[in-house]
Amino acid sequence: MALRRVFLASAGLLVFLSSATSGSSQEFRRWLASHLENGQRIYMSGVTAQGRVVQNSHGMEGVGCAMCHGPDGRGGTMHGIPVPNITVPLLTDPRGNEHNGRTRPAYNEETIKAAIVAGIDSGGNALHPEMPRWTGLTARDLDDLIGFLKTLGAVRRGSPEMSQGL
Ligand code: HEC
Repeated sequence: MALRRVFLASAGLLVFLSSATSGSSQEFRRWLASHLENGQRIYMSGVTAQGRVVQNSHGMEGVGCAMCHGPDGRGGTMHGIPVPNITVPLLTDPRGNEHNGRTRPAYNEETIKAAIVAGIDSGGNALHPEMPRWTGLTARDLDDLIGFLKTLGAVRRGSPEMSQGL
């Protein structure tokens, strides 16, 4: 009898534990998906997951980073101005990068925010006004956007794929 009770109790505990962990991993997945969706929508269309247009210095509505930096973040040109590759491996390359004749050190989480919101790069240079200042991003939007940037291309500087992208 005693053994049977121990068995039932531990079986019950197992059921409880497995439902608790699967519940929380589902919640975690939902949480992750909602943040990623917000970051992706801002990147692709300049609108948050809640449908709010992100205010910017160009007064653009419904236009995201993808228009200039490309859906894969590898840049190109816009109005004749070179648009840099903003995939995270390149932004955080410890050797820094050179763009439009300027050099800058590797970005970190703070300096990347300053580039997006205020147009100041990691070397303290003002970015060309062609790069909009995204003043309408909340702290959460910024985190979500950077989270999404991290999912873009794990392409390293100097690799053949990267020179194709540029
Ligand atoms: C209208 C075109 C345009 C749009 C839209 C745009 N950018 Fe840019 N961005 C540029 C240009 C051009 C530069 C380079 C400016 C310079 O050379 O001074 C730039 C530079 C940057 C840099 C600095 C990169 C470096 O290596 O220093 C970051 C980071 C960046 N953009 C992120 C974003 C993000 C995130 C978004 C969307 C929220 C965005 N940009 C939307 C045109 C754009």
